[in-house]
Amino acid sequence: MTDGMRIVALKFQLNGKPVEMECEAEETLAEVLRNHLNLNGTKVSCEVQVCGACTVLVDGLPVSSCTYLAYEARGKNVATIEGLEKPDGTLHPLQQAFIDDFAFQCGFCTPGMIMAAKALLDENPQPTRAEIIHHMDGNICRCTGYVPIVAAVQRAAGVMAKESKK
Ligand code: FES
Ligand code: FES
Repeated sequence: MTDGMRIVALKFQLNGKPVEMECEAEETLAEVLRNHLNLNGTKVSCEVQVCGACTVLVDGLPVSSCTYLAYEARGKNVATIEGLEKPDGTLHPLQQAFIDDFAFQCGFCTPGMIMAAKALLDENPQPTRAEIIHHMDGNICRCTGYVPIVAAVQRAAGVMAKESKK
């Protein structure tokens, strides 16, 4: 116990690997990922669950890690942008599609966009344009505009559909 802070034990799966650690009860999942586990791919911007920059997946569902307390992830599967590429360095189709469609400029929103899109494609592999727009409406981009982002998600869906038939 330090400075009156309550310390909690955490045990969860992170990108398929077990994590065991301690953190302060008030720490968010984003703080634990970035400050304790050095996974800086998850970005933090608004810190009030508005922009989607901090989106990660918990048990396959997108959550705002800026407000999701780390201890809530106990016993769960957490996925971040760092876990998407294959061990040989091949990018996930969503990552590649964002590059191919020029779907980012500063890139600050991109990890959250990609994780939100991954949740969609895992659940609905062939979404319509309207479904993509609806699903991604909690993710804000202040530079690129949304047309290339939606195009990238559509491209990735096509690539993943072809890969699943191999
Ligand atoms: S930083 Fe979490 S929603 Fe904006
Ligand atoms: S690419 Fe800059 S905020 Fe989206």
